[in-house]
Amino acid sequence: MKLLEITGLVARYGAGDVLKGLDLTVDEGEIVALLGSNGAGKSTTLRAISGLVANLSGGIVFAGRSIVGLKPEAIVRLGISHVPEGRRVFPGLTVRENIALGASNRRGVSRRQLAGEVEEMLGFFADLRRLEHALGWTLSGGQQQMVAVARGLMAKPRLLLLDEPSLGLAPLIVQQVFRIIADIRARGTTVLLVEQNAHMALGVADRGYVLETGRLLVSGRPDELWSNPQVRAAYLGGAAVAG
Ligand SMILES: Nc1ncnc2c1ncn2[C@@H]1O[C@H](COP(=O)(O)OP(=O)(O)O)[C@@H](O)[C@H]1O
Ligand SMILES: [Mg+2]
Repeated sequence: MKLLEITGLVARYGAGDVLKGLDLTVDEGEIVALLGSNGAGKSTTLRAISGLVANLSGGIVFAGRSIVGLKPEAIVRLGISHVPEGRRVFPGLTVRENIALGASNRRGVSRRQLAGEVEEMLGFFADLRRLEHALGWTLSGGQQQMVAVARGLMAKPRLLLLDEPSLGLAPLIVQQVFRIIADIRARGTTVLLVEQNAHMALGVADRGYVLETGRLLVSGRPDELWSNPQVRAAYLGGAAVAG
């Protein structure tokens, strides 16, 4: 079943079109990677889905209903959670408090239920358990990324949008982040993943889309993308190992 269906999406900041007619679908249960170089429009695509781009046209249908023009909070409530670029962990709040904030768009969650769900996240992100009372500013980049993803999951999304979760992290931590992405899908959440790290992203994804300055260059299964010479040369690190 198509969970997300984007058709002819055009997004503008000021005078210029940043997305120039994008078509993209995500099926329920998939991990879909959105790749492309800096400035291609990947973050803008996620922001458009989340209702954060004012000037857009085209279709965005989620779970059978159009979400174009809805407020960001309404879109979260329908089941789309967005972990933005840069993590944005609150420095003066503890890990627990930061995670709990992710439930703030859900109605009628009791304190007790909230505490239980934060506990569940501390179980899922085992490294955060010992840090539950640590303040945001004391965390490493990898720990901040875990907190940001945990916070995103607290919205109980059907679709999780992840923007560059591996950016700036050490290789071992990057591997951990991608394992978590696979686990999230295994727990039943669909993932749309924006990444610069095409190798790792196509390692977990079912399908990928490659954007080039606001247009789709190509899409397909990871093996199809790997075997496309143009894509390989430009985006997948030339003659690197096949996936
Ligand atoms: N708030 C903004 N105002 C004006 N231009 C923007 C804004 N955000 C992004 N852009 C421009 O839109 C283009 C696509 O940006 P973005 O979606 O962030 O790309 P990516 O995430 O693929 O690196 C870039 O040229 C960028 O400079
Ligand atoms: Mg970006």
